[in-house]
Amino acid sequence: MHDDDGLAGAFPYERLRRYPDVEAPNLQAWDATDLLIADRGVADAEERGLTGREIAVIGDNYGAIALRLAAAGFVGVRVHQDLATGREAFRRNAEELGLPDLQMPCELESGLLEGARLVLMQLPRGLAELEEGADAVARWAAPDVVLLAGGRVKHMTLAMNDVLGASFEVVNAELAVRKSRLLVASVPKAVPERPRFPVCATYDDAGLTVCAHGGVFAGKRLDVGTRFLLGFLGRMPSGEALDLGCGTGALAAAYSLAHPDAVVVATDRSAAAVRSARATIAANGLEGRVVVEHDDAAASRPDASADVVLLNPPFHLGASVHAGAALRLIDAAARLLRPGGELWTVYNSHLDYRRRLRTAVGRTSVEGQSGRFTVTRSVRRP
Ligand SMILES: C[S@@+](CC[C@H](N)C(=O)[O-])C[C@H]1O[C@@H](n2cnc3c(N)ncnc32)[C@H](O)[C@@H]1O
Repeated sequence: MHDDDGLAGAFPYERLRRYPDVEAPNLQAWDATDLLIADRGVADAEERGLTGREIAVIGDNYGAIALRLAAAGFVGVRVHQDLATGREAFRRNAEELGLPDLQMPCELESGLLEGARLVLMQLPRGLAELEEGADAVARWAAPDVVLLAGGRVKHMTLAMNDVLGASFEVVNAELAVRKSRLLVASVPKAVPERPRFPVCATYDDAGLTVCAHGGVFAGKRLDVGTRFLLGFLGRMPSGEALDLGCGTGALAAAYSLAHPDAVVVATDRSAAAVRSARATIAANGLEGRVVVEHDDAAASRPDASADVVLLNPPFHLGASVHAGAALRLIDAAARLLRPGGELWTVYNSHLDYRRRLRTAVGRTSVEGQSGRFTVTRSVRRP
């Protein structure tokens, strides 16, 4: 049995916050799947007599699962969160709950999983991300590892069982509890010598190779909006450039190829994006010309430090459609640009970001429209 510090019996999930991620009345920092995974994880770990160092958590959005385990006395649990915002929320939530000795979030690499005998996972939406995660567990965790992967029933598909089945001999789906369900995988299969990710594709027409880890926007495809914005590279000024929300880094790489003397920073809040962008930069021979950073809305970059910002903003936030994430990046671009600097944005024409671009940044002109997409140029007012 583990000492529960008085927290585990009734873990105060309601005290967890999403901050610095977007907060709103319909968005909370934990869900029924977190509860199911964490309860089951604690029970399984106690039954098998595991220590915290033998447990890893993947996809622990704001830390609900790892913090619940810590409150139950499991010390040294390793955690992976994709989002920079999730990592910061986890740190703040741990501090607020007075749960010390927590591991800092790890990357999806061997250090996260070596020696792990229990892995708890929030199922990702995308099958490629699940495939990469399952391969990582089979590749690096202990041979007797048990993977408990949970999701909302409405977001789960049978294809997920098949993806887990490619890395594990045994995969069982359990009965749903409060609209969530666990998939339990064990007996890892032999893995290929090298992980399949990142996957790369070369686009001769764009003169570019794009590389992608499992969880990144558009995978190794060049998104239609991204491709449209690429057509304007020659009209952008040369200088210090920032690819804000860089995803695979396609825009940063293409800008650097078109402006060889420019200093380029690519930044994204997703670790999968950061790893993808680093692979894209390497595949295009641009090491030393493009720096990739894991950050929320480039918060660590100084004000008025960029001559050009490239932006293909998100408009989906988790399951809910929410403009907040895109508006936040437009406001960040306004902060980051020097007076006279230019923000080049591509967006779905029906979204009408023009007013916000004008008020936050400055004079905004439509530079192109094609099918569903609009490209604008906003000049930072002094
Ligand atoms: C539509 S994708 C565009 C990716 C890439 N620029 C492209 O054109 O292929 C939007 C990207 O913004 C990132 N993002 C969303 N909110 C962010 C934030 N607050 N800070 C940094 N990146 C963010 C997402 O992770 C995603 O990679």
